Amino acid sequence: MGKLDGKYAVVTGAAKGIGAAIARKFLAEGVEKIALLDVSAIDPRSFDESGKRAFSYICDIGNEESVRETFAKIYEDFGRIDILVNNAGITRDAMFHKMTTDQWKAVLNVDLFSVFYTCRQVINPMRQQNYGRIINIASSSIRGNIGQCNYAAAKSGIVGFTCSLAKESGRKGITANCIAPGGTNTDMYKTVPQEVLEATLKRLPYGRLAEPEEIAGAAAFLASDDASYVSGQVIFVTGGNLS
Ligand SMILES: NC(=O)c1ccc[n+]([C@@H]2O[C@H](COP(=O)([O-])OP(=O)(O)OC[C@H]3O[C@@H](n4cnc5c(N)ncnc54)[C@H](O)[C@@H]3O)[C@@H](O)[C@H]2O)c1
Repeated sequence: MGKLDGKYAVVTGAAKGIGAAIARKFLAEGVEKIALLDVSAIDPRSFDESGKRAFSYICDIGNEESVRETFAKIYEDFGRIDILVNNAGITRDAMFHKMTTDQWKAVLNVDLFSVFYTCRQVINPMRQQNYGRIINIASSSIRGNIGQCNYAAAKSGIVGFTCSLAKESGRKGITANCIAPGGTNTDMYKTVPQEVLEATLKRLPYGRLAEPEEIAGAAAFLASDDASYVSGQVIFVTGGNLS
């Protein structure tokens, strides 16, 4: 028996990195069906050989119309959504004194507005079914990070949003939580300059980045009934790094 037997899940940004690891973990924990959302098509058989449990949906989460159409299709296909993981995200790093309005808007749109768009699609059905698990991927950058005023603002916005949604939704059987990963070994982190990476590794208690699978474990916990009374929380998965 898996922790997520019989559940219907959606993961955004599932093509690679942390999103793909979360989707694989959810499948291993028994989800009935999982919708894999990304900007381009994903081969669902690389997640589930049976072809019966994983499904690919092309969706730009920064576009409200695309999100609305995609979730309408998922509800048509699945009938319900129990678990929503808002994982997709981007960075457009720059020192604030050099940051362009485009860099600011792109990150706020894909990393924060998207969460509003997707949660709007699931909140009423979850309230009606008296059950829901919303997991939003924030970042340890909410504590501030050089070159990431846009990203830290978006991810901090997610935290405030999630804590408010948790308070609004408790009586309806819905939990809402954040995971704040530290530096994780994915393509996103590959954009970090080599000298910054070396300095970071020196100060990390584990002396290494997280692997995406180490973030996925926290998501599976929050999605499961083990976390039925855990809501409005931010779980920092940073290998003991407190800065
Ligand atoms: N890697 C890290 O060090 C790290 C640390 C803290 C938080 N995070 C967060 O974890 C999440 C996943 O990051 P990752 O490292 O796996 O990144 P990644 O770049 O490896 O993967 C991100 C995925 O999101 C998808 N995506 C991007 N824009 C999209 C859009 N508009 N619509 C739909 N899909 C879109 C990409 O196609 C990609 O598949 C992000 O929210 C990121 O901010 C990452």
